[in-house]
Amino acid sequence: MDTDVLTPHRPAVPAGDDPLWWRSAVIYQVYVRSFADGNGDGTGDLAGVRARLSYLKDLGVDAIWFNPWYPSPLADGGYDVEDYRDIHPQFGTLAEAEQLIEEALALGIRTIIDVVPNHISDQHPWFQAALAAGPGSPERERFWFHPGTGESGDGMPTDWVSSFQGDTWTRTTNADGTPGEWYLHLFTPEQPDLNWNHPDVRREHEDILRFWFDRGVAGVRIDSAALPVKDPALPPLGDGDHGPGDHPHLDRDELHDIYRAWRKVADEYEGTRVLVGEVWLDDAERFARYLRPDEMHTAFNFDFMTQPWSAAALRGSIQRTLAEHEPIGAPATWVLSNHDVTRPVTRYGRADSAFAFARKRFGTPTDLARGTRRARAAALLSAALPGSLYIYQGDELGLPEAELPREVIQDPMHFRSGGVDPGRDGCRVPLPWSGVRPPYGFGAADGVDTWLPQPADWAPLTAAAQSADPDSMLSLYREALRLRCDLDDLRGESLAWLELGADVLAFRRGDRTLSITNLGAVPVPLPAHRAVLLSSAAIEDAAGCGILPPDSTVWLTL
Ligand code: NOJ
Repeated sequence: MDTDVLTPHRPAVPAGDDPLWWRSAVIYQVYVRSFADGNGDGTGDLAGVRARLSYLKDLGVDAIWFNPWYPSPLADGGYDVEDYRDIHPQFGTLAEAEQLIEEALALGIRTIIDVVPNHISDQHPWFQAALAAGPGSPERERFWFHPGTGESGDGMPTDWVSSFQGDTWTRTTNADGTPGEWYLHLFTPEQPDLNWNHPDVRREHEDILRFWFDRGVAGVRIDSAALPVKDPALPPLGDGDHGPGDHPHLDRDELHDIYRAWRKVADEYEGTRVLVGEVWLDDAERFARYLRPDEMHTAFNFDFMTQPWSAAALRGSIQRTLAEHEPIGAPATWVLSNHDVTRPVTRYGRADSAFAFARKRFGTPTDLARGTRRARAAALLSAALPGSLYIYQGDELGLPEAELPREVIQDPMHFRSGGVDPGRDGCRVPLPWSGVRPPYGFGAADGVDTWLPQPADWAPLTAAAQSADPDSMLSLYREALRLRCDLDDLRGESLAWLELGADVLAFRRGDRTLSITNLGAVPVPLPAHRAVLLSSAAIEDAAGCGILPPDSTVWLTL
């Protein structure tokens, strides 16, 4: 790949920079395609983001994490990268990205980009060269090409299971038209897995980090971070029962060398450049290994994100999280959703409010009023916890998961489930900004469809409508983030539990700030307090003592 690029403009780190900014930062996730459309073509872009930076400033975020913004055939929403050193032409140009990074920084907002080490696009020059060069070539060694099993080689080399359901190997065709080798893809066939035992792969990714750190990027989110290393013997998955580090393609010990090398690159730069891992692992001890002081800074807390609306489940997750992070000195992260999962307003409005991939179905009954109440309460609960906080675009507007007609769905997860799973497009619908009908100020020109259709009933959910309403989800988020920034108690790292009943999550932050969430069916009397700072629902007054209704959170000053 061509590394001979122009010397980038180097934006300065913000004045008065705090090297520990990431420990308690509020990070807003921008799915560029659906945030705001600056050129009217129905797809979000960098011009759209630049025009809305003041919205993010007003919301009170410290950083933006951008989903992949690189040139890509978009077979998996951009997680099939064709060129890491440029911007998707639908989104803008590299020069615009540089401007955006700088403009955001001028507002005190850092930029985190997405890096996808496990795989690249099948249109990437490396993979195209590997296909052209044929079996046994050095070009193929950067991937996992392998002969098939059986006499005619028509059996897949392993029984490994795709994260997207379906096969993990695709057979190639030789130059003479005969069936050729197979290549590994833990996701779609358009996303061939890289071979991390190959020095080119390691060198290339370290160069990519430098390319973006040189442009002022403050961190990288590492996609599928527990997957890149494979056992080169390609052993069978078998019964799936593997000891720690013994799985053929998940959480292998060799991964830690890679992230130690990345940390060294990040630490070469001024200001703290952070590594944030997308690490899906059930084993807390194995998860924590990625956060050792010379590896990643933080990793997404999916344990918390997937819990049902239950006091016992959420308390268990919070306690586990804090206990696993404490010995390594890493801050926890708090995540309610992202571009892969069901929106909280919808999830919490369902009988089964836990999240699990492959369990999503069309037409699941949902009580959106209840889901919204709970999502408001969850927003305050998560914002009160010590560590960094992630907000997925549109959650601050209380958007529900859109039920899209099958014919507009683009997500490969839908197709690879045989059309049973609606996939992830329902949380990727373009944001409503203003107005009373689609495209709700998103920016698509007259007569141009947005890349996914917006529901007809989103007028009350636009940012403009909610800005004018002090009781809206947006106003709640703004106020919560303002207090989180202003109050020393909420910025600190201490948390002490209070016992207010089995269905109540109550904890003190610092000396004087209490957060109480009522997950039960009956109202809960508030303990003695000096003032109500913020609440997700109206606090009733009964005999001089406030009453916290079901499905709500309150922050109190003692
Ligand atoms: C995790 C990303 O969040 C998801 O959107 C993507 O499909 C997979 N990794 C594969 O890159």
